[in-house]
Amino acid sequence: MIKEILPSSVVAVDTFDDIPHAMLFPEEEVVIERSVEKRRKEFITARACARRALGLLGRPPAPILPGPRGEPRWPMGVVGSITHCAGYRGVVLGESTGVVTIGIDAEPDEELPFGVLEAIALPAELAQVDRLRAAHPEVCWDRLLFCAKEAVYKAWFPLTNRWLSFENALVTLDPAGTFSARLLVPGAMVEGQVLKSFTGRWLARRGLLATAIVRAAGRRPGHLQEATQWSAPSKSAANRTADSGDRSRTTSL
Ligand SMILES: CC(C)(COP(=O)(O)OP(=O)(O)OC[C@H]1O[C@@H](n2cnc3c(N)ncnc32)[C@H](O)[C@@H]1OP(=O)(O)O)[C@@H](O)C(=O)NCCC(=O)NCCS
Repeated sequence: MIKEILPSSVVAVDTFDDIPHAMLFPEEEVVIERSVEKRRKEFITARACARRALGLLGRPPAPILPGPRGEPRWPMGVVGSITHCAGYRGVVLGESTGVVTIGIDAEPDEELPFGVLEAIALPAELAQVDRLRAAHPEVCWDRLLFCAKEAVYKAWFPLTNRWLSFENALVTLDPAGTFSARLLVPGAMVEGQVLKSFTGRWLARRGLLATAIVRAAGRRPGHLQEATQWSAPSKSAANRTADSGDRSRTTSL
């Protein structure tokens, strides 16, 4: 599913089902030895997806362990991101020579629990969600805002090793299937430039929302768009059918 919003510079593997008996490395087993069944399933399935994605990059299987802040630690030269929610698990990977960072997130296309939107949204984002709800009621915009912010954090953290609060990025959602995030804290230096923003894509499909940020290496100074070329979205992402072709090396388990 997520391949629809990815550039060809990355690989992706996702699944709507669990793979409960997929092999774990012993050091991965240690990570979840005391975990509840739900966590075991998402962790194991995500590792199976990650191994398949590494294979798409031509790399051997490797353990994917969490770092001190939960971030996935990829083999040298690989950047990537993991997401799992009820009914979906996905992994997107790229080579660090071509991709600086990746952040993906998936969420059920359902309204956030009472009070959560107010906790995660800036005033301008609240107003935006109101406007989008009125104009495009088929998408849960509050949840999409949350989903975009989670992707921002997952893209931000590997670059900075720093926490980023929900109020530290101003997200603008475009019904055509893109979003941008302006960072409201001093950013990291990335390739000699101050990191000021991310851009990403989103889609609504099968009762799920997915967001993806893929920041390409080699951006020109001051260039605000991602260097990786995406085809310009022409229809509402919520209504678009899977007609965008296989632009990335992707597979579903
Ligand atoms: C870490 C966080 C983003 C995970 O998102 P989530 O929707 O709860 O869970 P998901 O299933 O989508 O993602 C889980 C995966 O995120 C990855 N992840 C966890 N911490 C991470 C970090 N610091 N950096 C990058 N990726 C991280 C892991 O790979 C994890 O999967 P794994 O444990 O199987 O390896 C979320 O729990 C969180 O802490 N959010 C607060 C920070 C934030 O979003 N700020 C908004 C800035 S605008």
